Amino acid sequence: MSAQKPIIVVGSINTDLVAVTKRLPAVGETVIGSDFQIHPGGKGANQAMAIARLGYPVHLIGRLGNDTFGAELRTYLENSGVDITGVSTSDGASGVAVIVVSARGENSIVLAPGANAKVTPEDIDANISILRTAGLVLAQLEIPLETVEYLAQVCAREGVPLILDPAPAMELPSGIFKDIAWFTPNQTEAAFYLGHNRNGSSPHPPAEMAMTLQSMGCSGVVLKMGADGTYLGPQGGSGSLVPAFSVEAIDTTAAGDAFNAGFATGLMLGKSPLDSAVFAAAVAAISVTRTGAQPSMPNMAEVEEFIKTNHSKL
Ligand code: RIB
Repeated sequence: MSAQKPIIVVGSINTDLVAVTKRLPAVGETVIGSDFQIHPGGKGANQAMAIARLGYPVHLIGRLGNDTFGAELRTYLENSGVDITGVSTSDGASGVAVIVVSARGENSIVLAPGANAKVTPEDIDANISILRTAGLVLAQLEIPLETVEYLAQVCAREGVPLILDPAPAMELPSGIFKDIAWFTPNQTEAAFYLGHNRNGSSPHPPAEMAMTLQSMGCSGVVLKMGADGTYLGPQGGSGSLVPAFSVEAIDTTAAGDAFNAGFATGLMLGKSPLDSAVFAAAVAAISVTRTGAQPSMPNMAEVEEFIKTNHSKL
């Protein structure tokens, strides 16, 4: 059997400071929380860690600060099986995310990027030999946009498909879309990119949203709609709705990261995009039944068992 081509994740690495409370506070309001937790997080590191936990070879390219959080995150990633040869250390603070999780499992997040803001196009060039080995590259938007744009050009040049998780939502240069194999917004982000309603949800049907996003130039769209499932943009035929597995969510932090990790792993294991979306939905469903970003990611045996038990209920 030929060696598996690794997945390369280029993205953020954070420490998540999580306060749990009955409901998210309104502007100007103080609420009393019930719990405080510290977890390894960051959209890039979460995706890399989830792929490693599924047993697929993965490299992470990013930056940590030279503080205590940075040292702890480095050890955690290393022990999780993520290849961190591409993770450099900068002077100053590592990324920190301040997260509030409600009793309903919803979250709101503020990111202080720290070293993530220092991931530059030079870091991409410095790791070009790793990138050239990739079967797939994953990126998000918690590192400078200029770096993501450059990464997209490099992926196109090297012929490596790029999955871009456009989170947090921000204006993207129109030229980037043609270099994206899979664009994977959640519904709020999709509404932002379509200019529907910059504050949140959209009344537009998912098929229409996916089609319009795809018309911006990317080859594929995966619209992540949480409990409403996933809409896979048309791949030569019509699009498909993959229903969500029904679970009791206690913490939805990093559910999107879990999904992207599962989707990428599924594709690399030779599954069709539709089957990869079902696999990814299972990875995400398990993750929301557990607390924390990286600690919530399931291993392959857990996902297979979950699909066996729950697939008929879809
Ligand atoms: O996607 C979830 C992640 O977003 C958290 O782990 C936090 O670090 C923020 O980056």
